[in-house]
Formats: sequence, structure tokens, C-alpha cells
Amino acid sequence: MEVRAEKPEDVEAVRRVNVAAFGRESEAKLVDQLRDVASTFSFVAVESEQIVGHVFFSPVAIAGECADDLLVLGLAPVAVLPGYQRQGIGTLLIRHGLAECARLGCKAVVVLGYPEYYPRFGFTPAKEKGLGCEYAVPDDVFMVLELESGALQGCVGTVKYRSEFNQLE
Ligand SMILES: CC(C)(COP(=O)(O)OP(=O)(O)OC[C@H]1O[C@@H](n2cnc3c(N)ncnc32)[C@H](O)[C@@H]1OP(=O)(O)O)[C@@H](O)C(=O)NCCC(=O)NCCS
Repeated sequence: MEVRAEKPEDVEAVRRVNVAAFGRESEAKLVDQLRDVASTFSFVAVESEQIVGHVFFSPVAIAGECADDLLVLGLAPVAVLPGYQRQGIGTLLIRHGLAECARLGCKAVVVLGYPEYYPRFGFTPAKEKGLGCEYAVPDDVFMVLELESGALQGCVGTVKYRSEFNQLE
């Protein structure tokens, strides 16, 4: 199993992974729309030359008090082909992605997802760090991870995903 940055020739396979994992087109379309946006990062998991997993990060804004130059990313979507799920591939993808995002200058990552899954990577409820979600979701599903200790000190506000996310239900 190799996890690496997405290459131009991976685009179709990444689309297939997202459609198969989510059972709909929305996440695949979102990735296609955001791929060329600055400060987005895309990683794939490759098994026997087949792309079996994908994770994507895109910049979020914090409406409130926060330094303008602080790079905070949203982790979404993450997808593993149904036949390959629950074998640790998502974990590898997320760990690799987070490490690369840190290396590339990102200070914190937010995620909207399963509260059983993301704490294993160090995510904690964003509310505890003073960050709210623009969507009406329970507190435990909106989580944040500082990639640099104390990076979010003094940051308070509502996290806004890029407008392309509004098409997701
Ligand atoms: C979520 C997903 C990316 C995880 O990838 P994975 O390779 O299966 O994950 P791992 O093998 O590293 O970890 C497995 C853990 O994921 C969590 N998980 C996976 N699917 C889950 C689900 N539907 N609900 C809650 N937790 C889930 C569980 O904690 C599971 O642990 P367990 O096997 O001990 O129950 C993958 O299941 C997937 O593509 N799901 C469909 C798309 C999706 O829901 N994406 C995430 C949106 S937040």
C-alpha cells in the first residue's frame, strides 16, 4: 500500500473512488471543482497499481477573530472503495495527509464527520477551541486538530467552508 500525492492521471480513478464510497456524485464533483484552487491537497492510496482510497483538503475561512495568514484546512472528502474499507486504508491516508499538510504550512485542520473515527488522529470537538460550524450540526461531529501546538490560540469564530461545499447535503 502506497499513499502519495494525486497526479493528473489519477483524476478519473479518484472520481470513481468517491462515487463508489459515497454512492452518489456530489463528493466527486466537489473534488473536481476544487482541485485547482490554491492550497488544496489531494492524496491517494494505491494497492497493486489501483487507486483504492482518496483524501482531500481545502482551505476554510474563520469568520471571527483569527490571524488572516493562518492556514486552516478542511479535511473532506475521504473515501475508500467499499471492498477495501475497514482495513486501515482510511487511517493511512489521513495520517499521511495530515503530516503532509503540516509540512506544507497548514496549522490546523477541521473535519465534519464520525465522532467515533477522527479522535484517533487527535481531533477534538472544535467548540472546545472556540470554533463553531457554519452548518447546524451536533457539537461532537465538528472537530479540529492543531498541527502546531497553540496555533489556534486567540482564534474564535465560525468556520466557513468554500461555497462549493453548499451543494452537499
Ligand atoms: C470513512 C472511511 C473513509 C474510512 O476508511 P476505512 O479505510 O474504512 O477506515 P479504517 O479501516 O482506517 O478505519 C475503520 C474505522 O472507520 C470508522 N468507520 C468507517 N465507516 C464508518 C461508518 N459508516 N460510521 C462510523 N464509523 C465508520 C470506524 O471507526 C472503523 O472502525 P472499526 O472498523 O473498528 O469499526 C470509509 O469507510 C469510507 O469511504 N466510507 C464511505 C465514505 C465516507 O463516509 N467518508 C467519510 C465521511 S466523514
